[in-house]
Amino acid sequence: MPRLRSSFSLPSLKSLDRSLGRMGQQLAQGLRHAIASGALRPGERLPSTRTLSESLGVSRGMIVEAFDQLKAEGYLESLPRAGTAVARELHRSDVERTGNDFKITPRPKGRLPASAKRFSAVEQMLRPQAGLPLAIAHPADAAAPDETWRRLGNRVRATRAAAPSGYIDPRGVPELREAIADHVRRARAVRCTPEQVIITAGTQQGLFLSAQLLLGRGDAVWIEDPAYPGISAVLGAMDVRVTHVRVDQNGMDVEEARDLCPDARAAFVTPSHQYPLGMPMSMGRRLSLLRWAEEADAWIVEDDYDSELRYAGHPFPSLQGLDPSRVIYLGTMSKVLFSSMRIGYAIVPDALVAAFGGARAVVDRHSPSADQHVLAAFMKEGHLEAHIRRIRSAYSERRNALMSAIAAYLPDWARLQPSDQGMHLVVWLPKGVNDVKVSSDAREAGIVVRPISPLYASGKGRAGLMLGFGGFSIAALERAAKDLGQLLRKHAPEVRRSAAGRSAKAGKAR
Ligand SMILES: Cc1ncc(COP(=O)(O)O)c(C=O)c1O
Repeated sequence: MPRLRSSFSLPSLKSLDRSLGRMGQQLAQGLRHAIASGALRPGERLPSTRTLSESLGVSRGMIVEAFDQLKAEGYLESLPRAGTAVARELHRSDVERTGNDFKITPRPKGRLPASAKRFSAVEQMLRPQAGLPLAIAHPADAAAPDETWRRLGNRVRATRAAAPSGYIDPRGVPELREAIADHVRRARAVRCTPEQVIITAGTQQGLFLSAQLLLGRGDAVWIEDPAYPGISAVLGAMDVRVTHVRVDQNGMDVEEARDLCPDARAAFVTPSHQYPLGMPMSMGRRLSLLRWAEEADAWIVEDDYDSELRYAGHPFPSLQGLDPSRVIYLGTMSKVLFSSMRIGYAIVPDALVAAFGGARAVVDRHSPSADQHVLAAFMKEGHLEAHIRRIRSAYSERRNALMSAIAAYLPDWARLQPSDQGMHLVVWLPKGVNDVKVSSDAREAGIVVRPISPLYASGKGRAGLMLGFGGFSIAALERAAKDLGQLLRKHAPEVRRSAAGRSAKAGKAR
Protein backbone atom coordinates (compact mmCIF):
# COMPACT_ATOMS: atom_id res chain seq x y z
CA MET A 1 0.00 0.00 0.00
CA PRO A 2 1.44 3.47 -0.92
CA ARG A 3 2.97 5.43 1.88
CA LEU A 4 0.89 7.98 3.73
CA ARG A 5 1.57 11.48 2.43
CA SER A 6 3.33 13.48 5.08
CA SER A 7 1.95 16.79 3.90
CA PHE A 8 -1.40 16.84 2.17
CA SER A 9 -1.20 19.43 -0.56
CA LEU A 10 -3.53 18.41 -3.35
CA PRO A 11 -4.17 21.19 -5.92
CA SER A 12 -7.90 20.48 -5.88
CA LEU A 13 -8.03 21.26 -2.15
CA LYS A 14 -6.24 24.58 -2.54
CA SER A 15 -9.41 26.20 -3.81
CA LEU A 16 -11.51 25.51 -0.70
CA ASP A 17 -13.31 28.77 -0.07
CA ARG A 18 -14.62 29.38 3.42
CA SER A 19 -16.78 32.29 2.26
CA LEU A 20 -18.89 29.87 0.20
CA GLY A 21 -19.73 27.76 3.28
CA ARG A 22 -20.62 24.01 3.09
CA MET A 23 -16.97 23.10 3.64
CA GLY A 24 -17.76 19.36 3.92
CA GLN A 25 -19.23 19.39 0.43
CA GLN A 26 -16.38 21.45 -1.00
CA LEU A 27 -13.88 19.04 0.52
CA ALA A 28 -15.74 16.01 -0.88
CA GLN A 29 -15.76 17.57 -4.36
CA GLY A 30 -12.04 18.38 -4.08
CA LEU A 31 -11.27 14.76 -3.20
CA ARG A 32 -13.44 13.44 -6.06
CA HIS A 33 -11.48 15.71 -8.39
CA ALA A 34 -8.17 14.46 -6.99
CA ILE A 35 -9.23 10.84 -7.60
CA ALA A 36 -10.57 11.55 -11.12
CA SER A 37 -7.39 13.39 -12.11
CA GLY A 38 -5.15 10.65 -10.73
CA ALA A 39 -3.63 12.87 -8.03
CA LEU A 40 -4.90 10.28 -5.54
CA ARG A 41 -4.53 6.67 -6.65
CA PRO A 42 -6.58 3.56 -5.78
CA GLY A 43 -5.40 2.16 -2.47
CA GLU A 44 -3.64 5.38 -1.43
CA ARG A 45 -4.18 6.15 2.23
CA LEU A 46 -5.45 9.53 3.33
CA PRO A 47 -4.12 11.43 6.34
CA SER A 48 -6.10 11.07 9.56
CA THR A 49 -9.06 13.36 10.08
CA ARG A 50 -7.03 15.18 12.74
CA THR A 51 -4.04 15.86 10.42
CA LEU A 52 -6.31 16.95 7.61
CA SER A 53 -8.28 19.20 9.87
CA GLU A 54 -5.08 20.92 10.98
CA SER A 55 -3.53 21.25 7.54
CA LEU A 56 -6.70 22.49 5.83
CA GLY A 57 -8.01 24.55 8.71
CA VAL A 58 -11.35 22.79 8.57
CA SER A 59 -13.17 21.27 11.52
CA ARG A 60 -12.77 17.51 12.09
CA GLY A 61 -16.57 17.16 11.88
CA MET A 62 -16.49 18.48 8.30
CA ILE A 63 -13.71 16.05 7.36
CA VAL A 64 -15.67 13.10 8.83
CA GLU A 65 -18.78 14.24 6.92
CA ALA A 66 -16.86 14.38 3.61
CA PHE A 67 -15.22 10.97 4.22
CA ASP A 68 -18.59 9.36 5.05
CA GLN A 69 -20.15 10.80 1.91
CA LEU A 70 -17.31 9.54 -0.30
CA LYS A 71 -17.40 6.09 1.34
CA ALA A 72 -21.12 5.88 0.57
CA GLU A 73 -20.41 6.85 -3.05
CA GLY A 74 -17.67 4.24 -3.40
CA TYR A 75 -14.68 6.60 -3.76
CA LEU A 76 -13.16 5.82 -0.37
CA GLU A 77 -13.03 2.80 1.90
CA SER A 78 -12.19 2.24 5.57
CA LEU A 79 -9.16 0.13 6.28
CA PRO A 80 -9.18 -2.03 9.40
CA ARG A 81 -7.12 -0.14 12.02
CA ALA A 82 -5.43 1.88 9.28
CA GLY A 83 -7.75 4.81 8.57
CA THR A 84 -9.20 5.71 5.20
CA ALA A 85 -7.95 5.07 1.65
CA VAL A 86 -9.06 5.55 -1.95
CA ALA A 87 -11.14 2.45 -2.78
CA ARG A 88 -8.76 -0.23 -4.09
CA GLU A 89 -11.30 -1.53 -6.61
CA LEU A 90 -11.78 1.90 -8.11
CA HIS A 91 -10.07 2.64 -11.43
CA ARG A 92 -9.51 6.15 -12.61
CA SER A 93 -11.44 5.33 -15.78
CA ASP A 94 -14.45 4.40 -13.62
CA VAL A 95 -14.81 8.04 -12.65
CA GLU A 96 -16.66 10.02 -15.25
CA ARG A 97 -16.51 13.79 -15.21
CA THR A 98 -19.26 16.04 -16.56
CA GLY A 99 -18.56 19.71 -15.97
CA ASN A 100 -17.85 20.04 -12.27
CA ASP A 101 -19.56 16.79 -11.38
CA PHE A 102 -18.14 13.32 -11.00
CA LYS A 103 -19.90 10.00 -11.25
CA ILE A 104 -18.65 6.46 -10.73
CA THR A 105 -19.52 4.15 -13.62
CA PRO A 106 -17.74 0.88 -12.84
CA ARG A 107 -16.21 -0.93 -15.76
CA PRO A 108 -17.75 -4.34 -16.20
CA LYS A 109 -15.53 -7.13 -14.93
CA GLY A 110 -14.09 -9.20 -17.74
CA ARG A 111 -14.83 -8.78 -21.42
CA LEU A 112 -18.32 -7.94 -22.67
CA PRO A 113 -19.99 -10.77 -24.56
CA ALA A 114 -20.02 -10.16 -28.34
CA SER A 115 -23.78 -9.93 -28.35
CA ALA A 116 -23.79 -7.27 -25.61
CA LYS A 117 -21.28 -5.27 -27.65
CA ARG A 118 -23.52 -5.47 -30.73
CA PHE A 119 -26.56 -4.29 -28.79
CA SER A 120 -24.56 -1.42 -27.22
CA ALA A 121 -23.87 -0.17 -30.75
CA VAL A 122 -27.59 -0.42 -31.53
CA GLU A 123 -28.44 1.74 -28.52
CA GLN A 124 -26.48 4.60 -30.05
CA MET A 125 -27.92 4.03 -33.50
CA LEU A 126 -31.56 4.04 -32.41
CA ARG A 127 -31.48 6.83 -29.85
CA PRO A 128 -34.50 9.09 -30.48
CA GLN A 129 -33.67 12.44 -32.02
CA ALA A 130 -34.25 15.62 -30.03
CA GLY A 131 -37.60 17.22 -30.89
CA LEU A 132 -35.96 20.19 -32.63
CA PRO A 133 -36.97 21.55 -36.05
CA LEU A 134 -36.35 19.27 -39.02
CA ALA A 135 -36.14 16.13 -36.85
CA ILE A 136 -37.74 13.20 -38.65
CA ALA A 137 -40.36 10.89 -37.13
CA HIS A 138 -41.88 13.64 -35.00
CA PRO A 139 -45.61 13.61 -35.68
CA ALA A 140 -47.41 16.94 -35.74
CA ASP A 141 -49.24 18.21 -32.70
CA ALA A 142 -52.25 17.72 -34.99
CA ALA A 143 -51.42 13.99 -34.92
CA ALA A 144 -51.18 13.81 -31.15
CA PRO A 145 -54.09 12.22 -29.30
CA ASP A 146 -56.91 14.70 -29.46
CA GLU A 147 -60.02 15.20 -27.35
CA THR A 148 -61.83 12.28 -29.04
CA TRP A 149 -58.95 9.96 -28.25
CA ARG A 150 -58.89 11.06 -24.61
CA ARG A 151 -62.66 10.74 -24.17
CA LEU A 152 -62.73 7.35 -25.80
CA GLY A 153 -59.76 6.26 -23.73
CA ASN A 154 -61.49 7.20 -20.48
CA ARG A 155 -64.66 5.42 -21.52
CA VAL A 156 -62.97 2.23 -22.67
CA ARG A 157 -60.49 2.03 -19.80
CA ALA A 158 -63.34 2.27 -17.30
CA THR A 159 -64.68 -1.09 -18.44
CA ARG A 160 -63.39 -4.28 -16.93
CA ALA A 161 -63.12 -6.02 -20.30
CA ALA A 162 -60.45 -3.55 -21.39
CA ALA A 163 -58.09 -4.50 -18.59
CA PRO A 164 -58.66 -8.09 -17.50
CA SER A 165 -56.58 -9.27 -14.56
CA GLY A 166 -54.84 -12.05 -16.51
CA TYR A 167 -52.78 -12.32 -19.68
CA ILE A 168 -54.45 -12.00 -23.05
CA ASP A 169 -53.80 -13.65 -26.43
CA PRO A 170 -50.25 -12.63 -27.47
CA ARG A 171 -51.53 -12.10 -31.02
CA GLY A 172 -53.72 -9.25 -29.77
CA VAL A 173 -57.26 -8.24 -28.86
CA PRO A 174 -59.75 -9.70 -31.41
CA GLU A 175 -61.58 -6.37 -31.92
CA LEU A 176 -58.32 -4.64 -32.85
CA ARG A 177 -57.20 -7.45 -35.16
CA GLU A 178 -60.55 -7.12 -36.94
CA ALA A 179 -60.36 -3.32 -37.19
CA ILE A 180 -56.81 -3.50 -38.57
CA ALA A 181 -57.71 -6.18 -41.10
CA ASP A 182 -60.55 -3.92 -42.32
CA HIS A 183 -58.27 -0.87 -42.45
CA VAL A 184 -55.42 -2.47 -44.41
CA ARG A 185 -57.81 -4.23 -46.79
CA ARG A 186 -59.39 -0.90 -47.68
CA ALA A 187 -56.42 1.45 -47.45
CA ARG A 188 -53.55 -0.78 -48.60
CA ALA A 189 -55.10 -3.56 -50.70
CA VAL A 190 -53.68 -6.08 -48.22
CA ARG A 191 -55.34 -9.50 -48.49
CA CYS A 192 -55.91 -11.00 -45.05
CA THR A 193 -58.31 -12.28 -42.42
CA PRO A 194 -58.30 -10.91 -38.85
CA GLU A 195 -56.63 -14.20 -37.73
CA GLN A 196 -53.54 -13.27 -39.77
CA VAL A 197 -53.11 -9.96 -37.91
CA ILE A 198 -50.57 -10.02 -35.07
CA ILE A 199 -50.49 -6.90 -32.91
CA THR A 200 -46.89 -5.79 -32.29
CA ALA A 201 -45.22 -3.14 -30.19
CA GLY A 202 -44.56 -1.17 -33.40
CA THR A 203 -42.80 -2.02 -36.65
CA GLN A 204 -39.46 -2.22 -34.90
CA GLN A 205 -40.70 -5.27 -33.02
CA GLY A 206 -42.23 -6.62 -36.25
CA LEU A 207 -38.78 -6.41 -37.89
CA PHE A 208 -37.16 -8.10 -34.91
CA LEU A 209 -39.71 -10.93 -34.72
CA SER A 210 -39.57 -11.49 -38.50
CA ALA A 211 -35.78 -11.71 -38.46
CA GLN A 212 -35.83 -14.12 -35.51
CA LEU A 213 -38.42 -16.36 -37.13
CA LEU A 214 -37.25 -16.35 -40.73
CA LEU A 215 -33.49 -16.50 -40.34
CA GLY A 216 -31.25 -19.10 -38.74
CA ARG A 217 -27.62 -18.84 -37.81
CA GLY A 218 -25.46 -18.07 -40.86
CA ASP A 219 -28.46 -17.56 -43.16
CA ALA A 220 -28.25 -14.95 -45.89
CA VAL A 221 -30.60 -11.97 -46.15
CA TRP A 222 -31.01 -9.01 -48.53
CA ILE A 223 -31.60 -5.46 -47.36
CA GLU A 224 -31.70 -2.21 -49.29
CA ASP A 225 -28.63 0.01 -49.66
CA PRO A 226 -29.17 2.58 -48.16
CA ALA A 227 -31.35 1.06 -45.45
CA TYR A 228 -33.46 1.99 -42.45
CA PRO A 229 -31.13 1.87 -39.40
CA GLY A 230 -33.77 -0.11 -37.48
CA ILE A 231 -33.40 -3.12 -39.81
CA SER A 232 -29.61 -2.76 -40.04
CA ALA A 233 -29.56 -2.83 -36.24
CA VAL A 234 -31.79 -5.92 -35.97
CA LEU A 235 -29.69 -7.90 -38.44
CA GLY A 236 -26.39 -6.48 -37.19
CA ALA A 237 -27.15 -7.94 -33.76
CA MET A 238 -27.70 -11.43 -35.26
CA ASP A 239 -25.36 -14.03 -36.62
CA VAL A 240 -26.54 -13.75 -40.25
CA ARG A 241 -25.00 -12.80 -43.61
CA VAL A 242 -26.38 -9.46 -44.78
CA THR A 243 -26.19 -8.49 -48.45
CA HIS A 244 -26.79 -4.79 -49.08
CA VAL A 245 -28.50 -4.38 -52.43
CA ARG A 246 -28.23 -1.17 -54.42
CA VAL A 247 -31.38 0.93 -54.72
CA ASP A 248 -32.02 2.91 -57.92
CA GLN A 249 -35.02 4.98 -59.03
CA ASN A 250 -37.09 1.75 -59.22
CA GLY A 251 -36.18 0.50 -55.75
CA MET A 252 -34.07 -2.54 -54.83
CA ASP A 253 -32.26 -4.05 -57.83
CA VAL A 254 -33.50 -7.65 -57.60
CA GLU A 255 -31.34 -9.00 -60.45
CA GLU A 256 -28.23 -7.62 -58.77
CA ALA A 257 -29.35 -9.17 -55.47
CA ARG A 258 -29.72 -12.58 -57.11
CA ASP A 259 -26.20 -12.29 -58.57
CA LEU A 260 -24.63 -11.08 -55.34
CA CYS A 261 -26.30 -13.55 -53.02
CA PRO A 262 -28.30 -16.33 -54.65
CA ASP A 263 -29.00 -18.23 -51.42
CA ALA A 264 -30.84 -15.52 -49.41
CA ARG A 265 -33.68 -16.74 -47.18
CA ALA A 266 -35.43 -13.39 -46.82
CA ALA A 267 -35.50 -9.81 -48.13
CA PHE A 268 -36.44 -6.74 -46.05
CA VAL A 269 -37.80 -3.90 -48.19
CA THR A 270 -39.68 -0.58 -47.98
CA PRO A 271 -41.50 -0.82 -51.34
CA SER A 272 -44.06 1.97 -50.93
CA HIS A 273 -41.58 4.64 -49.93
CA GLN A 274 -37.94 3.59 -49.89
CA TYR A 275 -36.29 4.61 -46.65
CA PRO A 276 -34.53 7.04 -46.77
CA LEU A 277 -34.67 7.99 -50.48
CA GLY A 278 -38.43 8.11 -50.95
CA MET A 279 -39.15 6.40 -54.29
CA PRO A 280 -41.67 3.55 -54.61
CA MET A 281 -40.55 0.18 -55.95
CA SER A 282 -41.67 -0.22 -59.58
CA MET A 283 -44.21 -2.88 -60.52
CA GLY A 284 -41.54 -4.72 -62.54
CA ARG A 285 -39.24 -4.95 -59.51
CA ARG A 286 -42.13 -5.98 -57.25
CA LEU A 287 -43.00 -8.84 -59.55
CA SER A 288 -39.41 -10.00 -59.88
CA LEU A 289 -38.97 -9.90 -56.10
CA LEU A 290 -42.09 -12.04 -55.64
CA ARG A 291 -40.88 -14.42 -58.39
CA TRP A 292 -37.56 -14.81 -56.59
CA ALA A 293 -39.30 -15.53 -53.25
CA GLU A 294 -41.45 -18.20 -54.90
CA GLU A 295 -38.54 -19.87 -56.69
CA ALA A 296 -36.18 -19.68 -53.72
CA ASP A 297 -38.83 -20.61 -51.14
CA ALA A 298 -37.86 -17.39 -49.36
CA TRP A 299 -39.77 -14.61 -47.56
CA ILE A 300 -40.27 -10.91 -48.12
CA VAL A 301 -40.75 -8.52 -45.20
CA GLU A 302 -42.60 -5.42 -46.37
CA ASP A 303 -42.07 -2.43 -44.06
CA ASP A 304 -44.99 -0.14 -44.96
CA TYR A 305 -44.26 2.55 -42.42
CA ASP A 306 -45.91 5.68 -43.81
CA SER A 307 -47.94 4.94 -46.93
CA GLU A 308 -51.12 6.45 -45.51
CA LEU A 309 -49.31 9.80 -45.83
CA ARG A 310 -49.32 10.26 -49.58
CA TYR A 311 -49.88 13.72 -51.04
CA ALA A 312 -50.41 13.07 -54.76
CA GLY A 313 -52.90 10.52 -56.02
CA HIS A 314 -53.63 7.23 -54.28
CA PRO A 315 -51.07 5.34 -52.24
CA PHE A 316 -49.24 2.56 -54.12
CA PRO A 317 -51.02 -0.70 -53.17
CA SER A 318 -49.07 -3.05 -50.94
CA LEU A 319 -46.68 -5.71 -52.21
CA GLN A 320 -48.47 -8.20 -49.94
CA GLY A 321 -51.66 -7.78 -51.98
CA LEU A 322 -49.85 -9.21 -55.02
CA ASP A 323 -48.90 -12.47 -53.28
CA PRO A 324 -49.96 -12.88 -49.64
CA SER A 325 -48.33 -16.30 -49.32
CA ARG A 326 -44.74 -15.00 -49.38
CA VAL A 327 -44.99 -11.61 -47.67
CA ILE A 328 -44.96 -10.48 -44.05
CA TYR A 329 -46.58 -7.05 -44.10
CA LEU A 330 -45.64 -4.63 -41.29
CA GLY A 331 -47.66 -1.53 -40.43
CA THR A 332 -47.56 0.96 -37.57
CA MET A 333 -49.60 3.59 -35.74
CA SER A 334 -46.41 5.61 -35.14
CA LYS A 335 -46.84 7.91 -38.13
CA VAL A 336 -50.60 8.26 -38.37
CA LEU A 337 -51.18 8.54 -34.61
CA PHE A 338 -48.16 8.81 -32.33
CA SER A 339 -45.07 6.71 -31.80
CA SER A 340 -45.09 6.51 -27.99
CA MET A 341 -48.29 4.43 -28.29
CA ARG A 342 -46.12 1.49 -29.43
CA ILE A 343 -48.75 -0.31 -31.44
CA GLY A 344 -48.13 -1.78 -34.85
CA TYR A 345 -49.10 -4.95 -36.65
CA ALA A 346 -47.68 -7.80 -38.67
CA ILE A 347 -49.90 -9.47 -41.24
CA VAL A 348 -48.49 -12.89 -41.78
CA PRO A 349 -49.27 -15.94 -43.95
CA ASP A 350 -51.42 -18.55 -42.11
CA ALA A 351 -48.44 -20.86 -41.73
CA LEU A 352 -46.61 -18.26 -39.61
CA VAL A 353 -49.44 -17.13 -37.29
CA ALA A 354 -48.59 -19.55 -34.48
CA ALA A 355 -44.88 -18.78 -34.74
CA PHE A 356 -45.45 -15.02 -34.45
CA GLY A 357 -47.82 -15.57 -31.50
CA GLY A 358 -45.25 -17.74 -29.76
CA ALA A 359 -42.39 -15.34 -30.43
CA ARG A 360 -44.44 -12.40 -29.15
CA ALA A 361 -45.24 -14.31 -25.94
CA VAL A 362 -41.53 -15.05 -25.43
CA VAL A 363 -40.43 -11.47 -25.95
CA ASP A 364 -43.00 -9.62 -23.81
CA ARG A 365 -46.28 -11.63 -23.67
CA HIS A 366 -48.41 -8.99 -25.42
CA SER A 367 -49.14 -5.29 -25.83
CA PRO A 368 -51.18 -3.68 -23.01
CA SER A 369 -54.79 -4.73 -23.57
CA ALA A 370 -56.42 -1.42 -22.58
CA ASP A 371 -54.54 0.51 -25.29
CA GLN A 372 -55.56 -2.10 -27.85
CA HIS A 373 -59.24 -1.71 -26.89
CA VAL A 374 -59.01 2.09 -27.10
CA LEU A 375 -57.46 1.89 -30.57
CA ALA A 376 -60.02 -0.70 -31.71
CA ALA A 377 -62.87 1.60 -30.67
CA PHE A 378 -61.15 4.62 -32.27
CA MET A 379 -60.91 2.72 -35.55
CA LYS A 380 -64.37 1.11 -35.42
CA GLU A 381 -66.05 4.48 -34.85
CA GLY A 382 -64.34 5.90 -37.94
CA HIS A 383 -62.04 8.32 -36.08
CA LEU A 384 -58.80 6.97 -37.53
CA GLU A 385 -59.84 7.61 -41.12
CA ALA A 386 -60.99 11.14 -40.28
CA HIS A 387 -57.76 11.71 -38.38
CA ILE A 388 -55.64 10.52 -41.31
CA ARG A 389 -57.49 12.88 -43.66
CA ARG A 390 -56.85 15.75 -41.24
CA ILE A 391 -53.15 15.13 -40.73
CA ARG A 392 -52.56 14.46 -44.42
CA SER A 393 -53.80 17.95 -45.12
CA ALA A 394 -51.76 19.48 -42.26
CA TYR A 395 -48.62 17.63 -43.40
CA SER A 396 -49.21 18.57 -47.00
CA GLU A 397 -49.16 22.28 -46.06
CA ARG A 398 -46.01 21.86 -44.00
CA ARG A 399 -44.35 19.87 -46.75
CA ASN A 400 -45.14 22.56 -49.34
CA ALA A 401 -43.83 25.21 -46.98
CA LEU A 402 -40.58 23.32 -46.42
CA MET A 403 -40.12 22.75 -50.16
CA SER A 404 -40.56 26.48 -50.81
CA ALA A 405 -38.17 27.33 -47.98
CA ILE A 406 -35.59 24.91 -49.38
CA ALA A 407 -35.87 26.59 -52.79
CA ALA A 408 -35.61 30.04 -51.20
CA TYR A 409 -32.86 29.55 -48.63
CA LEU A 410 -30.66 26.56 -49.47
CA PRO A 411 -27.77 27.01 -51.94
CA ASP A 412 -28.71 25.78 -55.41
CA TRP A 413 -26.13 22.99 -55.17
CA ALA A 414 -28.35 21.36 -52.49
CA ARG A 415 -30.79 19.29 -54.59
CA LEU A 416 -34.24 18.21 -53.46
CA GLN A 417 -35.11 14.54 -54.15
CA PRO A 418 -38.61 14.23 -55.67
CA SER A 419 -41.01 12.26 -53.46
CA ASP A 420 -44.69 12.54 -52.58
CA GLN A 421 -45.14 10.62 -49.37
CA GLY A 422 -44.20 10.51 -45.69
CA MET A 423 -42.94 13.00 -43.15
CA HIS A 424 -39.50 13.89 -44.48
CA LEU A 425 -37.75 15.31 -47.54
CA VAL A 426 -34.29 14.43 -48.81
CA VAL A 427 -31.78 17.03 -49.94
CA TRP A 428 -28.65 15.82 -51.76
CA LEU A 429 -25.33 17.52 -51.17
CA PRO A 430 -22.53 17.70 -53.74
CA LYS A 431 -19.24 15.82 -53.51
CA GLY A 432 -16.87 17.38 -51.01
CA VAL A 433 -19.54 18.26 -48.46
CA ASN A 434 -19.54 16.04 -45.38
CA ASP A 435 -23.17 15.43 -44.36
CA VAL A 436 -22.18 14.05 -40.94
CA LYS A 437 -20.29 17.25 -40.17
CA VAL A 438 -23.18 19.37 -41.48
CA SER A 439 -25.58 17.51 -39.21
CA SER A 440 -23.38 17.97 -36.14
CA ASP A 441 -22.97 21.70 -36.92
CA ALA A 442 -26.73 21.92 -37.42
CA ARG A 443 -27.33 20.31 -34.02
CA GLU A 444 -25.30 23.10 -32.43
CA ALA A 445 -27.48 25.60 -34.25
CA GLY A 446 -30.61 23.95 -32.81
CA ILE A 447 -31.62 22.01 -35.94
CA VAL A 448 -31.78 18.21 -36.27
CA VAL A 449 -31.00 16.74 -39.71
CA ARG A 450 -30.10 13.09 -40.32
CA PRO A 451 -27.09 12.51 -42.59
CA ILE A 452 -27.69 9.93 -45.34
CA SER A 453 -24.16 8.73 -46.15
CA PRO A 454 -23.91 6.55 -42.97
CA LEU A 455 -27.10 4.72 -43.99
CA TYR A 456 -25.20 3.11 -46.87
CA ALA A 457 -23.43 -0.19 -46.21
CA SER A 458 -20.05 1.37 -46.86
CA GLY A 459 -20.86 4.06 -44.27
CA LYS A 460 -19.69 6.53 -46.91
CA GLY A 461 -22.46 6.69 -49.47
CA ARG A 462 -23.81 9.73 -51.27
CA ALA A 463 -24.03 12.76 -49.00
CA GLY A 464 -27.49 14.06 -48.21
CA LEU A 465 -29.77 15.16 -45.42
CA MET A 466 -33.20 14.00 -44.27
CA LEU A 467 -35.38 16.92 -43.24
CA GLY A 468 -38.52 16.15 -41.23
CA PHE A 469 -41.48 18.48 -41.50
CA GLY A 470 -44.22 16.64 -39.59
CA GLY A 471 -43.84 17.99 -36.08
CA PHE A 472 -43.17 21.69 -36.69
CA SER A 473 -45.08 24.83 -37.53
CA ILE A 474 -44.59 26.49 -40.89
CA ALA A 475 -42.80 29.40 -39.21
CA ALA A 476 -40.40 27.00 -37.42
CA LEU A 477 -39.71 25.14 -40.67
CA GLU A 478 -38.94 28.38 -42.51
CA ARG A 479 -36.63 29.57 -39.76
CA ALA A 480 -34.81 26.24 -39.68
CA ALA A 481 -34.41 26.18 -43.49
CA LYS A 482 -32.97 29.69 -43.36
CA ASP A 483 -30.46 28.68 -40.66
CA LEU A 484 -29.59 25.50 -42.53
CA GLY A 485 -29.03 27.52 -45.71
CA GLN A 486 -26.55 29.78 -43.90
CA LEU A 487 -24.79 26.80 -42.42
CA LEU A 488 -24.53 25.06 -45.80
CA ARG A 489 -23.10 28.18 -47.44
CA LYS A 490 -20.11 27.86 -45.10
CA HIS A 491 -19.36 24.62 -46.98
CA ALA A 492 -19.25 26.37 -50.37
CA PRO A 493 -15.39 26.33 -50.50
CA GLU A 494 -15.46 22.51 -50.16
CA VAL A 495 -17.91 22.34 -53.07
CA ARG A 496 -15.66 24.59 -55.19
CA ARG A 497 -12.50 22.65 -54.26
CA SER A 498 -14.11 19.33 -55.10
CA ALA A 499 -15.47 20.64 -58.44
CA ALA A 500 -12.03 22.10 -59.31
CA GLY A 501 -10.41 18.74 -58.46
CA ARG A 502 -12.84 16.94 -60.73
CA SER A 503 -12.34 19.27 -63.69
CA ALA A 504 -8.53 19.09 -63.31
CA LYS A 505 -8.75 15.28 -63.40
CA ALA A 506 -10.99 15.43 -66.45
CA GLY A 507 -8.50 17.83 -68.12
CA LYS A 508 -5.60 15.40 -67.51
CA ALA A 509 -7.64 12.51 -68.89
CA ARG A 510 -8.29 14.42 -72.15
C1 LIG B 1 -38.68 2.75 -42.31
C2 LIG B 1 -39.20 2.63 -40.91
N1 LIG B 1 -39.55 1.43 -40.47
C3 LIG B 1 -39.97 1.27 -39.21
C4 LIG B 1 -40.08 2.31 -38.33
C5 LIG B 1 -40.43 2.03 -36.90
O1 LIG B 1 -41.67 2.33 -36.55
P1 LIG B 1 -42.28 1.92 -35.14
O2 LIG B 1 -42.36 3.18 -34.36
O3 LIG B 1 -43.60 1.36 -35.48
O4 LIG B 1 -41.40 0.91 -34.49
C6 LIG B 1 -39.75 3.59 -38.75
C7 LIG B 1 -39.82 4.72 -37.82
O5 LIG B 1 -39.51 5.82 -38.09
C8 LIG B 1 -39.30 3.76 -40.08
O6 LIG B 1 -38.94 4.97 -40.53
